[in-house]
Formats: sequence, C-alpha cells, structure tokens
Amino acid sequence: MTAPNPTPLSNVPASASPLAAAAASANAANRTQARITAVTSGKGGVGKTMVSANLAAALARRGERVLVIDADLGLANLDVVLNLQPRATLHDVFTGKVTLDAALVDAPGGFHVLLAGSGLVEYSHLTPEVREQLVAVLAKVRPRYDRVLLDTGAGISDVVLFAVSLADEVLVVATPEPTAMADAYATIKVLAIQQGREAIQLVVNQTQRLGEGRNVAQQLQTVIDRFVQMPAGHQVRLNYVGEIPSDNSVRHAVQRRQLLVATYPGCPAALAIGQVAGKLPVLANR
Ligand SMILES: Nc1ncnc2c1ncn2[C@@H]1O[C@H](COP(=O)(O)OP(=O)(O)O)[C@@H](O)[C@H]1O
Ligand SMILES: [Mg+2]
Repeated sequence: MTAPNPTPLSNVPASASPLAAAAASANAANRTQARITAVTSGKGGVGKTMVSANLAAALARRGERVLVIDADLGLANLDVVLNLQPRATLHDVFTGKVTLDAALVDAPGGFHVLLAGSGLVEYSHLTPEVREQLVAVLAKVRPRYDRVLLDTGAGISDVVLFAVSLADEVLVVATPEPTAMADAYATIKVLAIQQGREAIQLVVNQTQRLGEGRNVAQQLQTVIDRFVQMPAGHQVRLNYVGEIPSDNSVRHAVQRRQLLVATYPGCPAALAIGQVAGKLPVLANR
C-alpha cells in the first residue's frame, strides 16, 4: 500500500535507508528537532495504537516527517495493526544487536515506525539501562523528523511515566466510559503532579454521539480543577483536540490489519482523526 499523498520521504528511492533519507531531508530543510508527542491513557484498549498510527498518517499527509515509536515496551502491537513483520525491533537496538537505521521501518501511510518486541519481561519495570537506551534513541531520531509519536502503554507504571516524561507534550486518549474517564483523570493527575505538566491534550475516542467528547473534556476539567492541587499560580488545562466516533470501520481495518485512514478514508473515524491532526499544537520549528 502506498500513501495517498506521499510525503517528501516517500519520494526517496526504496533502496535508501529511511534514516539517511530523513537526515538528508532535515539538513536540506535546515530544521532542528522533532516535537515528541506521547500518546497515553489511563485505561488499556481505549485506542492509543489506533490513534497513533492513523494520526501519524494524517500528519504525514499534512507534510510532516513522522516517526511512531512503539513505546508499549513488552506489550507491543503496533506491528499487528500495521501488518508489519519487523526485521529488527527496538529491543534489538537496545541490546546492540542492530543499528537504529536497521530497525526503522517504512509504514503504510507515509511515516516510519520503530517497533518494540512483544512479551519481553525485561520491560515490565524501568531499569537504568532502559532509561538510557530510550533517551539515546530519542536523541538520535529527533533531528531527523518533525514529529515523533510515542505509542505508550496504559496506566501509570514507571515505564509508561518515564516514556511520557521524555515527551514535549502529552495526548491523553480517553473514552466516555466512566472507567476510562476515571483512569484518564488518575493519569492526568499524576502527570500534573509528578511532571509538572500544565497543558495536556485530550482526544475522546469511541464517542456515540456528537458533542460527547467535549462533554467528557468538560467533566474531566471540572474534576481536575477541584481535586488536582498545583502550586500557587499554576493550573492544569486540558486542550480538547476532538472526538473520534465509535465506528465499525475501525474494527474492520484492525481485522484486516490495515490503516483506517488509508482503507476507509471517508469513514467518520478517519475524518475525525484528520481533524485532530489539524488541532494538535503546531511545530515550534516551523
Ligand atoms: N473509534 C473506534 N471505533 C470502534 N472501535 C474502536 C475505535 N477505537 C478503537 N477501537 C477498537 O478498540 C481496539 C483497541 O484499540 P487499540 O488502539 O489497540 O487500544 P490501546 O492501544 O489503547 O490498547 C481496536 O482494536 C478496535 O477494535
Ligand atoms: Mg496499544
């Protein structure tokens, strides 16, 4: 499958390494550092990977050079959603088995991915090695892209919180389910208090009716204002970037292991993701 509107990177010969091409493109454009966006949630299964992959394609279509890193270390499944069989994973990079270049994969949709190994118990908790490796990988990829999306695991484990701490901004994925809202609130609270994050992007996935997402955002903001104690003069603001309706096309795309925005570009969820891409904060270096 090819990207509907190729990014500059899609025009490089297939033989060129994605990393070399990205670096060349960065130099040519004289741009600096990618904006790192962590996609996270309180509850699992709310749509982080679906949002990360499809948002990456939507941002690529807007001309951004995008890398998605499967930062759900240990329970990775970005490869499943994108139907990619990685030659090498982030685990292989961490252990020095392969170079970073060898692990960067072209994804359908005109962006690149770094896949993580699945079922690796060594990533169930944060070690100094994992910390250092993740920091080193991000430092290497940063100059070569406009945006790096970190598709993190759910919850507030130390691995997830560390991955999120490396990001310039956080996009929290919630759904209107009370359990997902409660878990989103818990995550936002920890990010505000532990990481001093005062601006958090919020997308509400799997909405049943128009406006439900804004309602969820307002309810969360109300609870945050009441219960999250920030130092004097500081306040946590949710930046609501939109809602993605519950849409059977999403399930069909996942079943077929295809990218939603490429396979069903006109479906309500794909259109909504396109709008979310336009509402994310613009790149500082543009
Ligand atoms: N907008 C949506 N409409 C319908 N189903 C959805 C939607 N978003 C996610 N899903 C379903 O939820 C499942 C889990 O999504 P996923 O992105 O893997 O969640 P997470 O990464 O948060 O664990 C998907 O496989 C899909 O079947
Ligand atoms: Mg996931």
